[in-house]
Amino acid sequence: MRNRYQGKDYLAFKDMTREEIEFITDLSLDFKKKWYAREPHEYFKGQVWAALFEKNSTRTRNAFERAAADLGIKVVYLRPDEMQMTRGEPLKDTARILDRYFDGLFIRTFGHEIVEECSAWMESPVINGLTALEHPTQGIADLMTIKEKKGDFKGLKICYSGNLYNVCYTTMIFCATLGMNLSIACPEGLEPDSEILAETKRRAAVSGAKIELTQDFDEALKDADIVYGMSQYSMGQSEEEIEYLKSAFKPYQITLEAMKKAKPDAIFMHCLPAHRGEEVTDEVMECTQSVIFDEGENRMHSIKGILAAVAK
Ligand code: CP
Repeated sequence: MRNRYQGKDYLAFKDMTREEIEFITDLSLDFKKKWYAREPHEYFKGQVWAALFEKNSTRTRNAFERAAADLGIKVVYLRPDEMQMTRGEPLKDTARILDRYFDGLFIRTFGHEIVEECSAWMESPVINGLTALEHPTQGIADLMTIKEKKGDFKGLKICYSGNLYNVCYTTMIFCATLGMNLSIACPEGLEPDSEILAETKRRAAVSGAKIELTQDFDEALKDADIVYGMSQYSMGQSEEEIEYLKSAFKPYQITLEAMKKAKPDAIFMHCLPAHRGEEVTDEVMECTQSVIFDEGENRMHSIKGILAAVAK
């Protein structure tokens, strides 16, 4: 598909313009229409992409594989533990070799500098399937879901409860870019990444979005159009850290009572997997306001949109 994003990497919302975010969201919504109309869209037949996952995944990996299949792209799944990179081969060598074999790389890894290094050494596009800094394929699925359920972005309010890592950072950037207000309910002492915070402030000054961190959960929930739940901790944290975060986040659990403090037509979103009984109750996950499975389905349509935008 010829467009101005062709051949570009897809690494983080912090690097994307408002126009890029909106273009890929709308493209993903178009692919969803094609899916339901059973309209074939094997536009990239003959391409072969590598998928490298250094962390577990249910949604991202399977959404990517299905999206690629529908676009006619073959995927080779790479297990890091079977590659020389886990025996010390430099990433810059691995990246240049993969670049010779594949039309693109979809990667889930740890530090954001890893995807940036792949991008620096590869000519073919690199898509970030989650790093410590951002989860930009999740971000497009979330925007699709918000547009489907609420019609538009500007002026909406999101109440976010959960860890201050990648999903939170992507949400901060898209809210600041698109003019959505974001109230992050979290215990005292937690601070977002300084680069993300600075970029969020810069964008919010342009869009007029109000982005705040508050310890007052009721205030965060007040007038919220969307209540967004997220795990209180992250993959790979120590038992000690997890226990601390679980205890500190206890007052911010999303219950049916909490949902009543948001707008009556508020929706509940969660990127999943959820820890029922921790950041959210089972009742909220299953309630009529919950749109988590539409959001999860949108992971597939959104990855299709992202692939179609950047594939050469
Ligand atoms: N939301 C998300 O990234 O899910 P997975 O970890 O299952 O891919």
